Amino acid sequence: MSLSRGQFSSKMGFILAAAGSAVGLGNIWGFPIKTAQNGGAAFLFVYLLLVAVLCLPVVIAEIAIGRSTEKNPVGAMAALAPGTRWKTVGKLGVLCGFMILSFYVVIAGWVFGYFLETVTGGLERLSTDGAFGTFAGSAWKNLAYTGLFMTATVGIVVGGVKDGIERWARYLMPTLVIMLFALIAYVLTLENAGKGVAFYLVPDFAKLTMKNITAALSQAFFSLSLGMGALITYGSYVSKTDNIISSAAIVAAFDCFIAFSAGLLIIPAIFTLAPETTSETIQAGPGLIFVFLPKVFMNLSGQVGYFFASFLASFFFLLICFAALTSTISLLEVPTAYVVDEKGVRRKRAALSVGIIIFFIAVFSLLGNGAVDFLTNFVTYPSGVTKDSLSLVADIFNDTALPLGGFLISAFVAFKWKTANFSDEISHGYPSYKGSMVEKALNTVIYVCPFIILFIFLNTLLALYFGIDVFK
Ligand code: PHE
Repeated sequence: MSLSRGQFSSKMGFILAAAGSAVGLGNIWGFPIKTAQNGGAAFLFVYLLLVAVLCLPVVIAEIAIGRSTEKNPVGAMAALAPGTRWKTVGKLGVLCGFMILSFYVVIAGWVFGYFLETVTGGLERLSTDGAFGTFAGSAWKNLAYTGLFMTATVGIVVGGVKDGIERWARYLMPTLVIMLFALIAYVLTLENAGKGVAFYLVPDFAKLTMKNITAALSQAFFSLSLGMGALITYGSYVSKTDNIISSAAIVAAFDCFIAFSAGLLIIPAIFTLAPETTSETIQAGPGLIFVFLPKVFMNLSGQVGYFFASFLASFFFLLICFAALTSTISLLEVPTAYVVDEKGVRRKRAALSVGIIIFFIAVFSLLGNGAVDFLTNFVTYPSGVTKDSLSLVADIFNDTALPLGGFLISAFVAFKWKTANFSDEISHGYPSYKGSMVEKALNTVIYVCPFIILFIFLNTLLALYFGIDVFK
């Protein structure tokens, strides 16, 4: 182990950092709304199945690739398959780190802005019609919020693996869990919250179309930070004495648990203001968090007073800031580790320069929400849907590139690296692994994974860009 690269101090350190990467915007608003729109408990069931069968093996594969090479995704692929094109898969991952962070940090900046505005008494203004449009359309304000969020991210990544990434995950993750459960406990006492819980959990199997299953897979990849080498990178800082399988299972289970729990906060909260909500009328994406929820908090001020309602709102936005921050850290770490390993640049310079470049790329997404008309209506897909610049980057690099990356990584393990080497790596820190049932199961699934992921991925392409659901 080259000490200069850094290492997590313990298994727990890795689990917290990886869970921090996984738990983010995807859990807090992506998952609950997708579940509510796409069949409730039926969707949850499919989601958990996909995570357990398809995603968990890829999580383990990424960590094993990282730990066996002690390198970033590009270096890792080059080390395990020298002189081949597999390096390109690593490059795709590093590119994803750049591009996902470039729009993610814009949304994180909105959340941070909403925190600052609600904490300074602006809840009433934010709850008026059109407030979010004005907010997202003001370029200078958002440059400041995005810039500040990026600065915090760079500041932590500069600190290194143990004293930056791990240390902050140790503060932020427990705090996040406490905040989330405090809010859930409170919201569930409110009128009509029970209706929201029922709506969230009642299964509707008729909604389980192929389109929704592909949506579940993209969501699972995004939520687990999978398919772009974030876990290869974090895995490269894991000690040889740690059990990769149990770490991976804990991280995946924790991520699902937080996503599920976030639904117990958000969906009941919606019902306190709009008890007649249906899966057709429920708001999705930014409309929910930035338009609807401020109205929910404002509505509460009738019962609990403006001060307490503002406190709740700012507490909620701070919670999302924390979730987003541990994710932006991991997104920045991927290209940073690449520059450190492959270009021999010192971590501090690497993180700073990569951070600045990503900030500039972020402007493209930042201006696409009303500030610049041309970017707001940027492209029209063959399906006829028009997208803004931020959504375009999200569609390409989340919904498309992550499942593609997952396909390539699982194919890499099955057909290039080979299961014997995969098993060797896992057995460090898990001496009884070889010959166990777990080994047999994993080595079988890893051959099946690429085919199923590819199949679902092709359906994603058709659905997302062409509006075609083959199975309808
Ligand atoms: N998993 C994070 C979320 O759910 C997003 C993310 C994706 C982070 C890919 C790192 C890598 O918000």
